[in-house]
Amino acid sequence: MNQESYRMSTSSSASRPDRLTVLAFLADVQTEQVLRDGLGDIVANGMDVRRGTVRTAIQAMAKLPTPEVLIIDISGDDQPLSALGELSDVVEPGVRVLVIGDTDDVDFYRHITRGMGVMEYIFKPITREAVGRHFAPLITRKTVGSDAARGGRVVSLMGARGGVGTTTIAGNLAWYLGVISKRHTVFVESDLHMGSGALLLGGKTGPGLRMALETPDRIDPLFVERAAQPVSERLHVLASEEKLSEPLNYAKGAAQRLIETLRVRYNFVIMDVPFLPMPCNRELLEYSHHRVIVMDPSLASVRDTLRLMGVPNGPWQPQSPTIVLSRQGRPGGLTRKQIEDALKVKIDVVIPDMPKQLNESASFGEPAVTERGPFRQAIIDLGREIGFVGGRDEGGSSPEPTSALGSVANIFKSTKLGGLS
Ligand SMILES: Nc1ncnc2c1ncn2[C@@H]1O[C@H](COP(=O)(O)OP(=O)(O)OP(=O)(O)O)[C@@H](O)[C@H]1O
Ligand SMILES: [Mg+2]
Repeated sequence: MNQESYRMSTSSSASRPDRLTVLAFLADVQTEQVLRDGLGDIVANGMDVRRGTVRTAIQAMAKLPTPEVLIIDISGDDQPLSALGELSDVVEPGVRVLVIGDTDDVDFYRHITRGMGVMEYIFKPITREAVGRHFAPLITRKTVGSDAARGGRVVSLMGARGGVGTTTIAGNLAWYLGVISKRHTVFVESDLHMGSGALLLGGKTGPGLRMALETPDRIDPLFVERAAQPVSERLHVLASEEKLSEPLNYAKGAAQRLIETLRVRYNFVIMDVPFLPMPCNRELLEYSHHRVIVMDPSLASVRDTLRLMGVPNGPWQPQSPTIVLSRQGRPGGLTRKQIEDALKVKIDVVIPDMPKQLNESASFGEPAVTERGPFRQAIIDLGREIGFVGGRDEGGSSPEPTSALGSVANIFKSTKLGGLS
């Protein structure tokens, strides 16, 4: 058997222009959809997806020319190791092999990625985020950069329009991560004048954020420690309440420096960024790992979502933005299908219209995500989209079942086995 051979890189294999970029053998249509969404249009010379197992791949690869990247779905195979070994005999050595499976076992992961030369492994149900993060850089050979991989994850939420529910969603996501899931989380309210996120979370505002954005030389870990106000042990808020008569004097580069410093301290940096064409907002967006666009079911929102989708990805963003439809079912609103037809992409997360519950939670100071129900479920779905794998230490406070998959993903993370992270 020729197990090490996958890894051996031949320079000729990477530079053949006629070569198919990605050939995938996948077991089901759902996995195919997520893979396509996650890779977007980064695949230079095309992607050929066929239905099949690792056995189908072995038969096909005996005849087909080898692509640059081969993606194999080994789920359901009771002897995946020997099948992968067999496969290595029929593909050229330079091919990059990426594997999707259903085994969430850390030893298995270690074995195939170290001992068998498979470059990366993710397990089902796969997410766009996992595909974008772990597979995409190996396909483009553009690593997202070690800078992007070290430290916390930066997520920016931006409303397609004002008033669609962005702050509600961003604040509740931060609460879910920081309070319910106990990850070190900071909520950054980039609207220094009119932001309402601190209010929603019951956090204090202060002068720190403005200072940071105007005089970035002052930003260091101690500064951040003082400026971010605690809401709970692991959820902090960085927000201001500046006089409307005093516009921000933004210093170029401050957003990047602030984000880099926050990432050393927090697992998640959740930013509520209004879409105003200001340098500060533009830079905050640019240095996010993940952008989330929030829209409501209106025609104006559709138009502005299309415009936001056209904003090019920043250097740390391998995948296209997540689209959240807020207030679905609002009387007179567009249907999900109408919106998806107009956008020509799928909506990733849907938040129902629930004025009563959200108004009550705003008045009583407990974010709506603390209560079970469709709103909480949508926030959990959004958490997954942005790369949070829950499970291990949500403890008794978490009513949703803690999955074994989640816990192994956390082991991957804590033992630095999580691919590029
Ligand atoms: N899913 C929802 N169903 C019903 N009402 C909602 C929903 N989400 C938010 N709201 C309500 O809509 C109002 C605006 O919400 P929010 O402040 O989150 O919007 P925003 O997009 O951040 O607005 P702004 O542009 O002013 O920053 C609030 O009163 C909030 O309670
Ligand atoms: Mg807002």
